Amino acid sequence: MTQRTALVTGGTGGIGSAIIRYLAGQGHKVATNYRDEAKAEAWRAAMAKDGIEVCMVQADVTDPEACVAMARVIEEKCGPVEILVNNAGITRDTTFHKMNYQQWTDVINTNLNACFNVTRPVIEGMRARKWGRVVQISSINGQKGQYGQANYAAAKAGMHGFTISLAQENAKFGITVNTVSPGYVGTDMVMAVPEEVREKIVAQIPVGRLGRPDEIAHAVAFLTREETAWMTGANLAINGGQYMGW
Ligand code: CAA
Repeated sequence: MTQRTALVTGGTGGIGSAIIRYLAGQGHKVATNYRDEAKAEAWRAAMAKDGIEVCMVQADVTDPEACVAMARVIEEKCGPVEILVNNAGITRDTTFHKMNYQQWTDVINTNLNACFNVTRPVIEGMRARKWGRVVQISSINGQKGQYGQANYAAAKAGMHGFTISLAQENAKFGITVNTVSPGYVGTDMVMAVPEEVREKIVAQIPVGRLGRPDEIAHAVAFLTREETAWMTGANLAINGGQYMGW
């Protein structure tokens, strides 16, 4: 196996942490950004306890200049980014007729514009080296829409539009670009949905339960493997059967 350097944005979150663990377990060097110093330090200590050293850079993914600087720091500390997972994401759920501009732009900036900010500084290096893996973490709700998530669904659907364009532009450079669209996974983000609403959603999942972060990380790791070189522009839906559109 070739050891690569992987950047997972939002690595301190539920799904991000699982992806970091999985990629580190495969022998890759792992990096992530963070915003809150104290939270990041506690997270770093927990990962170190499990023998995982993470290169951590303070950077807000909504800030293009900070993302350029982050790519530079990671390259200096652990080598150029060869695997990128655009995972950072937030929700600001409310029905559209009550949504304010801030709730709209916060979600579009963090979930979609960040894909530009983080990918742009690393894509040229991937093209020059003729190898790269880019994975967008989208959502079931980008595929089917969701009551109360016009902002989030728009951003998540946009992420796959980004994937399929980038996949075409970079196929000849040994770079694959794919999307993973998780359904409802038992993370803080999903547990923040009011319990009675969440119970109704779980009732719509044929497998009968929320997903686990490692079940998403497993698919991301698969997409970053050498053997997955012919798979590009795909959208892997992992949602316990809640949405089976194709
Ligand atoms: N379909 C139809 N009607 C619905 C509905 C749905 N799916 N969900 C709610 N409603 C109805 C309610 O029954 C209620 O109807 P009545 O007024 O007739 O009683 C009405 O909508 C409530 O509407 P409000 O505008 O008053 O909404 P609210 O302020 O009470 O809150 C909400 C609405 C914030 C959207 C809340 O329902 C909610 O949190 N929903 C869950 C949204 C969700 O799934 N978020 C996912 C977060 S996790 C994530 O995003 C990760 C991922 O990728 C999967």
